[in-house]
Amino acid sequence: MELSDVKKVGVVGSGTMGHGIAINFALWGYDTVMSDLNEEILAKSMTDIKFGLGLFVEADMITQQQADDAVGRITTTTDLAEVAADSDFITEAIVDRSQDKRELFNKLDTLCPPRTIFASNTSSLVLSDFGSDVKRQDKLVITHYFAPPHIVPGVEVGKGPGTSVESFELTYELMKKVKKVPIRLQKELPGYLINRIQAAMGREAMKLWAEGMATAEDIELGIITTFGFRMPHEGPMMHYDLAGIWKWPADVRNANPNPNDKIRERMAEGTPWFVDPDKFDEAVEARDREYVQRLKTLYWDKL
Ligand SMILES: NC(=O)c1ccc[n+]([C@@H]2O[C@H](COP(=O)([O-])OP(=O)(O)OC[C@H]3O[C@@H](n4cnc5c(N)ncnc54)[C@H](O)[C@@H]3O)[C@@H](O)[C@H]2O)c1
Repeated sequence: MELSDVKKVGVVGSGTMGHGIAINFALWGYDTVMSDLNEEILAKSMTDIKFGLGLFVEADMITQQQADDAVGRITTTTDLAEVAADSDFITEAIVDRSQDKRELFNKLDTLCPPRTIFASNTSSLVLSDFGSDVKRQDKLVITHYFAPPHIVPGVEVGKGPGTSVESFELTYELMKKVKKVPIRLQKELPGYLINRIQAAMGREAMKLWAEGMATAEDIELGIITTFGFRMPHEGPMMHYDLAGIWKWPADVRNANPNPNDKIRERMAEGTPWFVDPDKFDEAVEARDREYVQRLKTLYWDKL
C-alpha cells in the first residue's frame, strides 16, 4: 500500500489520546471512524474534539470552516466491525493493558481487509508481546503520541519484530502528512525512547525531593526556568555542542565518566554532535536570538 492509498483511518479508544489523534487525522483531510465502549463516552469525546478544534480557531491557526469540516469527517461507532470495514490505517488508543490490546488486535486481524495497517499508541508495551498472534506481522507499527496528541508535534514511530520497511516508512510519511514530527525508533524497547528519557528525569527529580534536597515547587521551578527554558531549541546533545563542552580539556569534559564504553569513546573525541566547529559562533548567536525572544515572551515583564 502507498501513502496515497490511505483514504480512511480508524481510531479505537476515544479517551485522552484517542480523541486528539482523531482530531489530527480529520483536520488534515482523513475520513476518521472513532470507536469506544459506549455512546456516552463517544458523545463526550465529540464534545472534546469540538473544544480542541475551537482552540485552534481561537488562535487563528485554522478557520471555523476547517474545524467544521474536520468534525464532519469524524464518525463514531461502538461496533469494531464498522472501524474495521474499510479503514486503511487503524490506531488503537485503548487502556495500556497487554491482554486488552492483544484481544483488540486479534479481533481486528480477522475483521480488517489484508491491506490495513495497525498502529498502537502504547506508552510502554511492545508489539512482540501483545501483537504476537496477529497474522499480518508486517503491518504492525507503533505511533506513540504525546498528550495532548493534536497539539504536541512529536510522534515516535516504532516497529515490532516483523514490521516491514514499507509499513514503517508509510507510517512515517503519514505522520508528516498530518503535520506531526515523526521520530524513527530503530529498536523495540519497553517505554521506547522519549518516555525513558523523561522517566529518568522524573525518577531523579522525585529522588532528590524524597532526600529533602529541595521542595517540589523549587524542583519544578528549577526545571522550567533552566534546561526546560532551553529545550524548545535543544536537547542534551545539541546542548553539549552549544555550551562548548566539546572544547573543554578532556579531564574536565569527563569529570563524571560514563560507564558505557561507546559514550566514553564519543566523549573522548572532543567533537560536537551537530555543530560545525567553524560555525560555532553563528550557531550560538542563532540560539541567543531565539532565547531572547523566549525570555521576552515568558519572563521579561514578570521578573
Ligand atoms: N495519556 C497519556 O498521556 C498518554 C500518552 C501517550 C500514550 N498513551 C497511551 O494511549 C493509550 C490510551 O491512553 P489514554 O490516556 O487515552 O487512556 P483513556 O483511559 O483516557 O482512554 C482509553 C479509552 O479507551 C476505551 N477503551 C478501553 N478498552 C477498549 C476497547 N477494548 N475497545 C474500545 N475502546 C476501549 C476507554 O473506554 C477509554 O475511553 C494507552 O495505551 C496509553 O498508554 C497515553
